[in-house]
Amino acid sequence: MSKIWRKKPISLFEAEMKKSELNRVLGRWGLTSLGIGAIIGGGIFTLTGIAAHEYAGPALAISFVIAGLGCLFAALCYAEFSSVLPVEGSAYAYSYGTMGEIFAWIIGWNLILEYMMGATTVAVAWSGYFEKLLHQFNIHPPLWLMNDPITAATKYQEIGQVAPSICFNLPALLITWVVTSILVRGIKEAAKTNNIIVILKIAVVLFVIFVGFFFIDTGNYHPFVPERVIDSSGSGHYGWSGVITAASIVFFAYIGFDAVSTQAGEAINPKKDVPFAIIVSLLICTILYILVSLVLTGMVRYDALDMKAPVASAFEGVNLGWATVLITIAAVAGLISVMLVMMLGQTRIFLGMSKDGLLPKMFGEIHAKFKTPFKSTILVGFIISIVSSLTPIDKVSEMCSMGTLLAFAMIALAVLVLRYKQPDLERPFKVPFLPVISVLGVLFNATLMLFVRKETWIAFLIWSSIGLIVYFLYSSKNSKLNEYEKNHGSLN
Ligand code: ALA
Repeated sequence: MSKIWRKKPISLFEAEMKKSELNRVLGRWGLTSLGIGAIIGGGIFTLTGIAAHEYAGPALAISFVIAGLGCLFAALCYAEFSSVLPVEGSAYAYSYGTMGEIFAWIIGWNLILEYMMGATTVAVAWSGYFEKLLHQFNIHPPLWLMNDPITAATKYQEIGQVAPSICFNLPALLITWVVTSILVRGIKEAAKTNNIIVILKIAVVLFVIFVGFFFIDTGNYHPFVPERVIDSSGSGHYGWSGVITAASIVFFAYIGFDAVSTQAGEAINPKKDVPFAIIVSLLICTILYILVSLVLTGMVRYDALDMKAPVASAFEGVNLGWATVLITIAAVAGLISVMLVMMLGQTRIFLGMSKDGLLPKMFGEIHAKFKTPFKSTILVGFIISIVSSLTPIDKVSEMCSMGTLLAFAMIALAVLVLRYKQPDLERPFKVPFLPVISVLGVLFNATLMLFVRKETWIAFLIWSSIGLIVYFLYSSKNSKLNEYEKNHGSLN
């Protein structure tokens, strides 16, 4: 049992870094672009509607400030770690070096929720946007080809028909394979595709801000924080507690900056550029998000905001229907890059775990020509394509947030542990004001976890328990540290 607390020596990480077979091609702006590619996605284009309409009103901008600030605490901690340990395993590897094998495993296991579940959710969301785009061009594919069996059954029932025996979400399946093939072919190709999408996304977000600005009616900002209302079910919204709940919802829109840390193995100068990219991508997106939410709640009164496609609908409302097409295209393209970076992150974390022996060797095999972990990429693509085409997974984005919040809280704690235990390590980037930032990081992320629904907690605990079973049956027995301890003594 004592094995579970052992920590991986920093010297081992350093030795492995030197042996990395990945292609080092990413510079600081390429990395920043990957961060933005992962961050701007479904969150800003959809969740803003429900968050303002139901919980925060025009104070949605404050919710974005709160969520952004909380993410900044985590981002600073990620930045320090990535400057000390520029390895692909991200939060998993950082906890392995500081908190112990069992913590590392739990984090790695739950990062699957963030990255794989995140990419699956985004694949389904992408299909939804794609369908909307087709409708705008008057193309109406059959329901059985655009939805998983459960969602299709409901939709057929709504129109008084019986669903055919075969129903699956073809767009979600296809887009996953497109992204998988880009990822297998190489990090350069992936980064190039991402750059193009990021330019388009930022252009459309800037369009929303600058054009939308001229349609703001300042009357819509009053009251800025609408009064608290308790509805018949006894649950409340608006008021300051509504602003916090909205922050926990829009937190999803920020997820992704941490994925930059999984690219350390492919960065040219990881110790400096990864911390830079994590912080800069988060800051750029925070500013954009705050401006978009101010414009949106200024254009349309909060209680009239559309809850499904708030940004696109706001422009329809001011007779700029063509802008709706533009925004939908940006969302369709934007979600592809979110998938791209999330799947990239997932395979790099698996690579780290496989190198440590906690996952089978297959996850660490690198393609001789493409220099990518091709087997694991194909496996991840396979799972995502099946799950996203057959299950109504779009409602589980909270699981993704949950896995992320746990990782963020752990990282905030781990950075403090490492400072205390190894104060003399070379740290090209240092979190300022420790321990304050660490404590705030833990408190913020742990508090947001409390706002997550009970069902999500139950699913999360079941997932974690399965993880522990895998750990004791496989990982603990195959850990590379077993061999190391035999030769060098206990690592506790
Ligand atoms: N931040 C990403 C999005 O909003 C996950 O889609």
